[in-house]
Amino acid sequence: MSSSAPKVYPPSAEFAANANATADMYDRAEADPMEFWAEQARRLDWETPFDQVLDWSDAPFAKWYLGGKLNVAYNCVDRHVVAGKGDRVAIHWVGEPGDSRDITYSQLKDEVSRAANYLASIGLQTGDRVAIYMPMVPEAIVSMLACARLGLTHSVVFAGFSAAALRSRVDDAEAKVVITTDGQFRRGQPAPLKTAVDEALGTGDDAAASVQKVIVVRRTNHDPDLNWVQGRDVWWDDTVGEASPDHEPEAFDAEHPLFLLYTSGTTGKPKGIVHSSGGYLTQAAYTFHTVFDHKEGRDVFWCGADVGWVTGHTYLVYGPLSNGATEVIYEGTPNSPDEHRHFQIIERYGVTIYYIAPTLIRTFMKWGRAIPDAHDLSSLRLLGSVGEPINPEAWRWYHEVIGHGRCPIVDTWWQTETGGIMISPLPGVTECKPGSAMRPLPGISAKVVDDNGADVADGEQGYLVLDRPWPGMLRTIWGDAERFKDTYWSRFAEQGWYFAGDGARYDDDHALWVLGRVDDVMNVSGHRISTSEVESALVSHSAIAEAAVIGAADETTGQGIVAFVILTEGAESSGDELIAELRNQVATDISPIAKPREINVVPELPKTRSGKIMRRLLKDVAEGRELGDTSTLVDPGVFEAIRAQRA
Ligand code: PRX
Repeated sequence: MSSSAPKVYPPSAEFAANANATADMYDRAEADPMEFWAEQARRLDWETPFDQVLDWSDAPFAKWYLGGKLNVAYNCVDRHVVAGKGDRVAIHWVGEPGDSRDITYSQLKDEVSRAANYLASIGLQTGDRVAIYMPMVPEAIVSMLACARLGLTHSVVFAGFSAAALRSRVDDAEAKVVITTDGQFRRGQPAPLKTAVDEALGTGDDAAASVQKVIVVRRTNHDPDLNWVQGRDVWWDDTVGEASPDHEPEAFDAEHPLFLLYTSGTTGKPKGIVHSSGGYLTQAAYTFHTVFDHKEGRDVFWCGADVGWVTGHTYLVYGPLSNGATEVIYEGTPNSPDEHRHFQIIERYGVTIYYIAPTLIRTFMKWGRAIPDAHDLSSLRLLGSVGEPINPEAWRWYHEVIGHGRCPIVDTWWQTETGGIMISPLPGVTECKPGSAMRPLPGISAKVVDDNGADVADGEQGYLVLDRPWPGMLRTIWGDAERFKDTYWSRFAEQGWYFAGDGARYDDDHALWVLGRVDDVMNVSGHRISTSEVESALVSHSAIAEAAVIGAADETTGQGIVAFVILTEGAESSGDELIAELRNQVATDISPIAKPREINVVPELPKTRSGKIMRRLLKDVAEGRELGDTSTLVDPGVFEAIRAQRA
């Protein structure tokens, strides 16, 4: 992949001839955005049609599709059965140990109905919250859809999060039910999961007050001493499994909250991002159809994300299923039992559209091309990337080695908050350029601006803002409307723009490059982790007086977490033992994914005269660069000591 590699990749004539997207969509959306969004919403079945597309009079609190009523689960499941497609496979599920299940739309309808009937039978009411803490098993998706069917608001918590993280999310949402599994498979071994739920929910005075039931799916069946709380815990098989497969869905208001999804911000505890029903599903259905060029009945889609993240919500559940897609869902890691796993799955199911994160592409690169080359990947016709900037080298490798030079790559920029893809090439229409997300989708408007909100010139770096509302936008932060306004809408309050927290630039061809976060949020393997959360976990250890955490460039994971800590006087542990304890502390408070790559014990932290830690300079140190401007530091000499410690 030499310097003679092409700078841009125009769509092939063949792809363009059959593409779902058309070039005129940009102009149509621009000419009449409301009509464009009404048209996208008509992809869905509305029990009561909407009579107004958008009410933005109370900005930034948006209302989309006013007067409209729909059932999200009906749209994702039943309507395909009603249309005679019940025998189509919705999900090719592949378990980590090698077991597999094919689930048709008819079967999915029965399972979702059973789960809905059981949840209704225990007295849950529309608007109640249900926490879902599960590995990638079909029941996770069934649970989400059962909630949607009843108008319950789900809160999926990534099963890699710790008990403490689960508890804070359960408490914040006041979830009445937790759905989980006995265990999960990790690299061929069963590991407990319900244990974490028990620990999270506590007992006696410490018990999570809101939770009435824990529904447990039997997955690993490995633990003869599984703790069981009588009256609270029930097996999925004995309850959902016994319920009737007939359930009549009811339609809900377009603005009814479909789900909460917690994500890390710059400060404080994770925020429960609230998504709507009609607007969110419209965004999911539109982007899936257009960006992934999905052809019903022909394509096999595979999104490698976990259902615990927004990518899993929108492109494992709501986008594909609302489009009647056939998709692959894989439970495990890419190297279990060996590095061939993903490529075997592509081959076995004839995957045509494949959507993963750059971290995984870079990992494949490290493993070497002999592995994908050993497989027939000729079914692939479109590749996607999400979660972090993709470096041009990884883009070209993906294009050549996985896509055999034949598949367009959609580099899709979006966020938990945006609900669906915002910026991406349109395959068959837009040129692709390695490393660039190219341009906002039809209907979406983005700008790159300076501190004052003025457009920066092409080639210059600025802040990425979305200057118009869109249907899938977050509606608020659960229980904290002020924080919603403050976090996203205060930076450019005068203009009324959404500030994404990312830096970006347009290049000389006016192609958009997203450069990564400009706030204290790190992006590790496409996962969002806030520096302050990791810092609080570190200082909760008795030996630590102060901590500063930064995301340093990392060849594989995009960013790696690097911590600088100061010990308390008389700290009892030290050396490797202390470092191990600190890493465990972070795993316990947050998740193993948030464990620092490197922890440096230093005598002091670089601070300004007003006491602010200069993270920028710590980043320079961690990335091995010359130090930036140190003139505002109280004691520039502090770096001698920090460097000495790292040497
Ligand atoms: O910094 C951007 C980065 O991921 C952040 C959003 O993270 P999250 O809410 O966890 O959602 C991830 C999956 C949608 C963004 O603020 N990001 C996401 N996609 C891209 C990206 N950065 C560059 N290019 C992308 N394609």
